[in-house]
Amino acid sequence: MSRPPVDELLEFLRFPSVSAQSQHEVDMRACAGWLAEKLKSAGLAAKVEETCGHPIVVGRTPRDPKKRTVLIYGHYDVQPPEPLEAWTTPPFAPEIRNGRIFARGSTDNKGQILAHILGVEAALQEDSLPVNVLFLIEGEEETGSRSLPGFLEEHKASIACDVIVISDTGMAADGYPTLSYALRGIATMEVHVNGPSHDLHSGVYGGAVVNPATVAARLVASLHDAEGRVAIPGFYDAVQEPLPWEREAAANSPLRDEDIASQAGVDRLGGEPGFSAVERIGARPTAEINGIGGGYQGEGSKTVLPAEAFFKVSFRLVPNQVPDTILRLAQAHFARHTPEGVRVTCTLGHGGEPYYYDPNRPDGMAAQRALETVFGKMPALMREGGSIPILTVFREKLGCDSLLLALASPDCRAHAPDENFPVANFLAGIRLNRVLLQELAVS
Ligand code: BES
Ligand code: MN
Repeated sequence: MSRPPVDELLEFLRFPSVSAQSQHEVDMRACAGWLAEKLKSAGLAAKVEETCGHPIVVGRTPRDPKKRTVLIYGHYDVQPPEPLEAWTTPPFAPEIRNGRIFARGSTDNKGQILAHILGVEAALQEDSLPVNVLFLIEGEEETGSRSLPGFLEEHKASIACDVIVISDTGMAADGYPTLSYALRGIATMEVHVNGPSHDLHSGVYGGAVVNPATVAARLVASLHDAEGRVAIPGFYDAVQEPLPWEREAAANSPLRDEDIASQAGVDRLGGEPGFSAVERIGARPTAEINGIGGGYQGEGSKTVLPAEAFFKVSFRLVPNQVPDTILRLAQAHFARHTPEGVRVTCTLGHGGEPYYYDPNRPDGMAAQRALETVFGKMPALMREGGSIPILTVFREKLGCDSLLLALASPDCRAHAPDENFPVANFLAGIRLNRVLLQELAVS
């Protein structure tokens, strides 16, 4: 008798597999080992592949050349759990409350990976697996998938496949079947503004020395016009406008603007004029400040003119924007807005291209049919605001499209305290895997 699926998930969730924190290297390795063992007990050949960073776990079913090969991709690494005090129960001591499993990684992305593995396990037990399956589960997704492109290049031949399946996106509404057919790209940058050689008395020098914190604030403010458009010249030049059917799908989305406002905990939404919130998130590019600092942050007042200030910015991109081009435009824009008396240094960060797949192609239709069968209604077709930069690398190196079948609930709190995954979505994920592989076998 195999163990109850939920028990296995709870075990998986107990590994603090935080890829960003070096103190968790041992936990990463232990988690990868657990996954490989799980794949083996499910009936697959599995291996923990070493990389320069965290290991990649590969699992495969016996290869039948007459069958199509489906690659299922996911990640076992999780985001840092901090701030710990904001969790109702500790992040790596999973607990079920109101039908939801609370733990870091439950919805991003361990619940979904295990659902896929358990689906394949059940099909192997019944000897009814209609396709060859290849699992590729990495440990660096949350830190930019640094090792994976090289690994794909090196193992191209042995990981050849016909189509890729990924469940690492969000449902349009609770329990609503959703095929995400586009993801935004990303480009990040850190900007430092340096002025005087050391912190100054703001009374003795203020008024005569340019204040780096003021300049940082002006640079931040220069990113948007008064209405909410990105104000960097050329930013929108390559943007492909959403097609008429996409505007219609967005208008009929089960995800409404008021849902987004209530999930975010705000009274009113804002953003680029002329688009709904669903469109602003999925189909339009943005610039977001992720962090800003400089000067005195402690209790009470301190009359200082700080020597330095900084901010971190990330751009979310849509087809056909190119991350490097956007970073160069931003850098030139900041240079134009820099007054004399300070130095501005831009450090370019990681990037990832936007992804787009026409959901009405044969494999997309197969995914839509599977979602309809399992959830009992036609799936919503969504463009998602988040990014999975490796998808364009898959396309380039393996020549394959990725199908993004959402299982995360809108209130999943991914990357935040109290991350959670509904037990119902986990169990639906196991059924979805089985129906999907049937549909993909013949599409
Ligand atoms: N699963 C998410 C991506 C995602 C979230 C897609 C919601 C669609 C909807 C993924 O794990 C993630 O968080 N990616 C990062 C990528 C970054 C670190 C390069 C992101 O989007 O911020
Ligand atoms: Mn994530």
